[in-house]
Amino acid sequence: MTFLKRYYVQHLCTLLTVITLVDPSPCNPGFYVLKGECEGCPAGFSCLGGMSEPDPCGPGNFSAPLATNCSIANDGFYSPGTTKHHNATQQYPCPSGFECKADRSSAPPRGCSDPKPCPAGTWSPLHVAECLLCQGGTYCPGTSKHYNATEALECPAGFWCTQQDGNGTIKGCSKPLPCAPGTYSGPASEACLICSDGFWSPGTDSKRNATEALECPPGYSCIRNDPATGQATGCARPHPCGPNQYSEKCAMYCSKCGPGTSSPGTSPGHPSTSCTPDAISLIGPGSEGIVAADS
Ligand SMILES: *[C@@H]1O[C@H](CO)[C@@H](O)[C@H](O)[C@H]1NC(C)=O
Ligand SMILES: *[C@@H]1O[C@H](CO)[C@@H](O)[C@H](O)[C@H]1NC(C)=O
Ligand SMILES: *[C@@H]1O[C@H](CO)[C@@H](O)[C@H](O)[C@H]1NC(C)=O
Ligand SMILES: *[C@@H]1O[C@H](CO)[C@@H](O)[C@H](O)[C@H]1NC(C)=O
Ligand SMILES: *[C@@H]1O[C@H](CO)[C@@H](O)[C@H](O)[C@H]1NC(C)=O
Ligand SMILES: *[C@@H]1O[C@H](CO)[C@@H](O)[C@H](O)[C@H]1NC(C)=O
Repeated sequence: MTFLKRYYVQHLCTLLTVITLVDPSPCNPGFYVLKGECEGCPAGFSCLGGMSEPDPCGPGNFSAPLATNCSIANDGFYSPGTTKHHNATQQYPCPSGFECKADRSSAPPRGCSDPKPCPAGTWSPLHVAECLLCQGGTYCPGTSKHYNATEALECPAGFWCTQQDGNGTIKGCSKPLPCAPGTYSGPASEACLICSDGFWSPGTDSKRNATEALECPPGYSCIRNDPATGQATGCARPHPCGPNQYSEKCAMYCSKCGPGTSSPGTSPGHPSTSCTPDAISLIGPGSEGIVAADS
């Protein structure tokens, strides 16, 4: 018995030595060998255990101490990964004006390592996966070297800000568009308004902002629809009253002078606001001319 016992113990020792040589796994996962002892895996690294060295977390990944695997940065967060100068011990919230999206469909899945600036027409608050489209009536220049798109800006009066580009694609407004002649707008407008009959607007240019419709001045007419096409374009420039015509302010049409009265029509600096009785009407038949002469 004693012999047998000794025999087995001997063989067990040999067996253990062999196992140790063949399968050198002195450290559990989450630990690594340092000077013959198992040390906890440092944050920013992963340790498979066994004899393997700590593996630095790659770009987009991070880890807490004792990690077997690095974790992928969540949507709305980023991690540059472990480098010579930085240990990826945590993920950071995506700064506003940027987006951070993990790509879980790729193999291996990738976390965000570098926040992406919001493109023109979009903005973002803190820690988002995707920048938000600018709503109509607001605009977003997009994040650049000198500007972070942390909010949607209100479209200024005299301009319009639409989400759609010319082809109806929803893109978000990156830059306010000036109101065309015949139109005007208040603040936060998605479209400019067309001037009503009796009003006009020169439109927004470098000298002025078309923030309101202007009253058609006396001696002129302002009509909303283009007489040639019938389209509502708005009046871009008041139309002077012709000979034997006159108008008060806010006129859609110039009026014709009454019988026995006339006017030279509007010329620069001389608006035709009324008609004067013809000299001939004083001696002509009928009463209208005389009434006009008295008034
Ligand atoms: C990040 O971690 C995941 C999960 O552990 C892994 O699959 C992926 O390879 C790692 N990415 C990098 C760049 O190290
Ligand atoms: C950790 O990484 C190992 C090796 O890359 C992999 O086999 C294992 O599935 C991973 N575990 C988790 C929880 O991601
Ligand atoms: C990263 O972690 C390792 C292991 O804990 C440490 O030796 C090293 O100094 C750290 N580096 C930085 C830049 O913090
Ligand atoms: C934009 O945001 C980044 C990240 O938060 C910051 O480093 C940078 O200074 C900001 N730039 C401006 C112009 O505010
Ligand atoms: C509309 O689409 C056409 C053809 O795809 C393109 O050439 C044009 O630039 C687009 N216009 C705008 C405003 O995006
Ligand atoms: C027109 O509006 C823009 C935007 O609000 C402003 O920067 C500009 O000074 C205005 N121009 C004039 C002539 O008022």
